[in-house]
Amino acid sequence: MATKKNILIIGASQGIGNGFVKELINDNNIEHIFATYRTGKNAQNLLSLKVLNPEKLTIIQADVTLENDIQEVTNIIKSQIDKLHLVINCVGVLHEENLQPEKSLKHLNADNLLRYFQVNTIPTALFAKHLQPLFKHPELSIFATISAKVGSIEDNKIGGWYGYRASKAALNMLIKNIAIEYSRVSKNTAVIALHPGTTNTQLSAPFQKNVPPEKLFSVNLCIQQLLSVINNITIQDNGKFFSWDGSDLPW
Ligand SMILES: NC(=O)c1ccc[n+]([C@@H]2O[C@H](COP(=O)([O-])OP(=O)(O)OC[C@H]3O[C@@H](n4cnc5c(N)ncnc54)[C@H](OP(=O)(O)O)[C@@H]3O)[C@@H](O)[C@H]2O)c1
Repeated sequence: MATKKNILIIGASQGIGNGFVKELINDNNIEHIFATYRTGKNAQNLLSLKVLNPEKLTIIQADVTLENDIQEVTNIIKSQIDKLHLVINCVGVLHEENLQPEKSLKHLNADNLLRYFQVNTIPTALFAKHLQPLFKHPELSIFATISAKVGSIEDNKIGGWYGYRASKAALNMLIKNIAIEYSRVSKNTAVIALHPGTTNTQLSAPFQKNVPPEKLFSVNLCIQQLLSVINNITIQDNGKFFSWDGSDLPW
């Protein structure tokens, strides 16, 4: 019988991260799910899932811009298990109070640019650093981050969204680097970036006006599509950037 899997979903309070937990909690091939959230205020769905699944789900509060919180997440996981099979970092920011994607150079400021990198880029590298020992096992495993097609340098035809695009492009470079280093020490881990497609969450809500209905995915559809990509990943896919339909995206 195949080994049951241990999973970590980072940023599971709402949106795509919450969708993964909701779906995977019913998967009998999964032994345990760890899920992080930033504040209880937004995490009512996750807290309810914990009440319904006290044995299978561990929820951990973490602001992923703080390395101490990332270390603490790792410590909690290590106190319960010794191997991970799937990690998906779903944390991201496009807009928040005092932060809007910049349409033009005149909207740039250093604090906002830094904020994009602080949330969208750096945490993935720090999770890769701290979680690496949990990937040193012979079973196939996946370390994935939700990136965005707008982070593709080659695909950028219309500009704008300076901070968000640049933070995702830098995230993509980190994924490539992590893939190379992991391949030397945890040989059965595929490190990948995923583009979910435009998905109906609070992140995309202010920007959905010009999106045709068939190109705006529900969270549920997004999760089905991304899981079908993830379920087809092999070790040969290490270091790749996949779109929601399984096609390769240019870096
Ligand atoms: N939705 C789309 O159309 C779309 C398209 C392309 C790429 N993406 C990417 O997909 C990923 C998920 O986005 P989504 O649409 O699901 O957005 P979302 O609904 O806004 O969820 C974002 C998640 O990130 C968490 N988060 C933000 N800052 C954090 C921090 N400092 N520490 C810990 N958690 C933090 C949020 O927690 P709180 O609940 O506490 O705020 C929330 O759980 C992001 O990386 C996004 O860039 C989304």
